[in-house]
Amino acid sequence: MSMSSPSAPAIDPESKSTASVRGRQTSQSMAVWLGALLCFVLAGSTGAFFRAAPWFGWTAGFDLGNVRHAHSHLMYFGWVMPAAMAILATHLSSRRIRTLGWATLWLAALSYPPFFLYGYGMATVGSMQLPLSVILATANLLAWYVLAGFYVMERGKAPDAARGFWDGAVGLLVLSSIGAWGLGVVQAIRPESSFWFAAALHLFLDLFAHGWILLFVLGCAALALDSSASLLLRWSRRLLIGAVPFTFVLSIPPSLVPPSLNVVGALGGLFAGIGALGVLVALLRAWGQRDDGGFWLPGLIAFLVVALAWIGMSIPDVGAWGLDAGLRIPYLHILLLGGATLGLWSAARATWGPGATPGHGLFVVASVLLLVSLWPLTGIFPGAWRGSWVMRAVLAGAAAPVLAAVYTVVRLGVTARST
Ligand code: HEM
Repeated sequence: MSMSSPSAPAIDPESKSTASVRGRQTSQSMAVWLGALLCFVLAGSTGAFFRAAPWFGWTAGFDLGNVRHAHSHLMYFGWVMPAAMAILATHLSSRRIRTLGWATLWLAALSYPPFFLYGYGMATVGSMQLPLSVILATANLLAWYVLAGFYVMERGKAPDAARGFWDGAVGLLVLSSIGAWGLGVVQAIRPESSFWFAAALHLFLDLFAHGWILLFVLGCAALALDSSASLLLRWSRRLLIGAVPFTFVLSIPPSLVPPSLNVVGALGGLFAGIGALGVLVALLRAWGQRDDGGFWLPGLIAFLVVALAWIGMSIPDVGAWGLDAGLRIPYLHILLLGGATLGLWSAARATWGPGATPGHGLFVVASVLLLVSLWPLTGIFPGAWRGSWVMRAVLAGAAAPVLAAVYTVVRLGVTARST
């Protein structure tokens, strides 16, 4: 069952050649999807290694800081970006966006070894020292501008229900890239205050996650759940897109932020949270009127938690308490695994049908297990419950989505070989 069909080119649906062209385009886009899932497996295994290494007291000589960079970089650039591009390419019937998806996938995969071995430092290539990971990450960044250019050229083909969200998503992707360039400038100038480094870092990472990924997935959900007629959705979307650019301030350590900017961050968080709540209520209402599409629910619930967290973080004491209680990593994974990743799975299923996400239910359960397993690592877990079981549970939680995704990749691979 397919929740919504991608916007079709204006050609006769009865024609056999048209059907075969569309069939070929779909299988090529699904090949990018499969490549992105492989990156998810590798990035997830890297995260699980990060958790396991200190527990076993053996890091195999690797620097765990670099391991974490390799994990987050591959998740963003090798998983989220190509997966989203494959879905977008199908809806816009765009060969060039699909090709860009391939290029992004390869660039992300090539940058994995240098990130794992050297982080952002110099790699040794023969007798030369090169900032390989930075070079490849920069190429990945340039691909964002190419995506923005292609999108501007082809946005007329975007379905109405998704267009407003995708416009915002692409705009905020470009805005977030300014943070990445800013990081380079800050590292060259090395200003005395560490505010500038934190500001550039969070402009980059937070706008990528809150801006690009969240809005792209919400656009896919609005399209699949057919909620475009909702006035609440349209006004909340505008509020969300207008306020999200300021939410990065909430992630900067409060002691570094000038008071006037703190107010801007708090208002940004409050309005973005209210906007996101409005969008989610409209989507859940639309979902309630259908008897299919239940697979959207887990991702939308995760985004609901994110919206409430923004409203909470707009109160300075609550934000500081959250950071002190070690809620940053759970929050990030509710957003990126719970909201973004489960949302991309639902979008893939709505775009290509259930054959695109075999083992979907298993993956949802495994992702929830991971999120729950992060609770004992925070300051809000009752001390009396701690014990040696905690680390075992955390490890099992980290491995669960990786194993579920391996199952999906194998099933997709077997299907691809037999067709
Ligand atoms: C199988 C699923 C996943 C596992 C096992 C996993 C594991 C981890 C671990 C162990 C850390 C380091 C935590 C720490 O510093 O204490 C981490 C951080 C992080 N992860 Fe994941 N993660 C998963 C999914 C994801 C996804 C889907 C994304 C993004 C799309 C993501 C993005 C990040 C980011 C941005 C960080 C923070 C990096 C930093 O602080 O430098 N993770 N993850």
